[in-house]
Amino acid sequence: MDIDERIAALDGERVDHRFKGVPADAEGLTVGELAAQGRSLFDGGFGTPVLALSEEALEHNLTALEEYTAKYGLRFAPHGKTSMAPQLFARQLARGAWGITLAMPHQVRVARAFGVPRIFLANELVDAAALRWIGAEQDADPDFSVVAYVDSLRGVELMDATLRAAGVRRALDVVVELGAGQGARTGVRTGPEAEAVAAAVAATGSLRLVGVAGYEGEVPGADPERVRAYLRRLVGLAATLDRAGRFADAAEILVSAGGSAWFDAVADVFTDVPELSRPVLPLLRSGAYVTHDDDHYRQITPFNRVPQDGDLQPAFRLWAQVVSRPAPDQAFLNAGKRDAPYDLGLPVPRTVRSARDGSSRPAPEGLEVAKLSDQHAWLRVPSDDVLEVGDWVALGLSHPCTTFDKWPLIPVTRADGTVTSYVRTFF
Ligand SMILES: Cc1ncc(COP(=O)(O)O)c(C=O)c1O
Repeated sequence: MDIDERIAALDGERVDHRFKGVPADAEGLTVGELAAQGRSLFDGGFGTPVLALSEEALEHNLTALEEYTAKYGLRFAPHGKTSMAPQLFARQLARGAWGITLAMPHQVRVARAFGVPRIFLANELVDAAALRWIGAEQDADPDFSVVAYVDSLRGVELMDATLRAAGVRRALDVVVELGAGQGARTGVRTGPEAEAVAAAVAATGSLRLVGVAGYEGEVPGADPERVRAYLRRLVGLAATLDRAGRFADAAEILVSAGGSAWFDAVADVFTDVPELSRPVLPLLRSGAYVTHDDDHYRQITPFNRVPQDGDLQPAFRLWAQVVSRPAPDQAFLNAGKRDAPYDLGLPVPRTVRSARDGSSRPAPEGLEVAKLSDQHAWLRVPSDDVLEVGDWVALGLSHPCTTFDKWPLIPVTRADGTVTSYVRTFF
């Protein structure tokens, strides 16, 4: 079965109590049957709160990065931990993505179960059980491949010992991770350390060095200069390791970086990689771009700096309902921390839909989420506003990863409110 057939099988899943927001009267239908009904998000039986994904915005964002990476000669492995939605992986691959990036072995299992052929595991991998499983999957299927990070001698030793003991035949591809500076996250801190790790990989036989990687999103005190300086160090490391013959067994040299905050810098620096002994594969890994957001990523998107290269649209709307209006300046919505992300900014009211006549108006100036409880949003209301108990409020959200992880089945909705499909997420 290829990836499209496995994705199509998701339409056969039964709709039931596992999926909040989804109509209770659809119990027992398959997801595909419910989608075929083309219900309205507003009067089709959906409960509040309900998270909706805009079909138009999704399509727009998928196109924006497809065109951007093509324009700058980058290959693309969008970070899948953002959505953990195999249907979105399939759409990204259909638009030419080289593979899917993931952070954790359990995420690799999800992608593998849906037939993603190529995975860039942007993380150190020393879990013996995961190494054995990945080794066995690669041995069983020549069309499946995983690339993982290494950043320590001990890590290389553990990986090698595990793969050898398991009798894994195919070498596991690895890249040396260069940390984004002192005090940054994972990754070797210096060139000599990177060279030592590369030498250790060469001595194993169970691992094959195929490139270098880093994450400029973790550059301490990031600004355009510091980020570019870090990316140039990363490219310099690839050249150093290449001169030392460390990519002797690789067909291509992978050089990978890039989230959704600095892909302009990645494009600049990666279009300037010096000639190496093998073709270079410059790999971008943005993930959050796919839904973008209304706050954090809206402020930091590189398209603010290079508007001529495109733009992104926030694809999420969390529809919640006013359940209490105890004071003129206070209202409470029935969506809280279990429904909305709050780690990179609070939700932002965007639209109010009257429960009296279904009319919509833009959220007034001053209508704000002051805080979130587990199941409530505390709204600050301008004193002259007519917001009533029963009204629906559409919240724009901040941070795609921590939105997707709260919603296992998300209605994909056209601008007129018609639900056309459902996106299933995994953890
Ligand atoms: C190593 C790595 N690569 C890529 C990304 C994707 O970045 P973004 O979520 O900004 O798209 C992340 C995000 O955390 C990351 O940790």
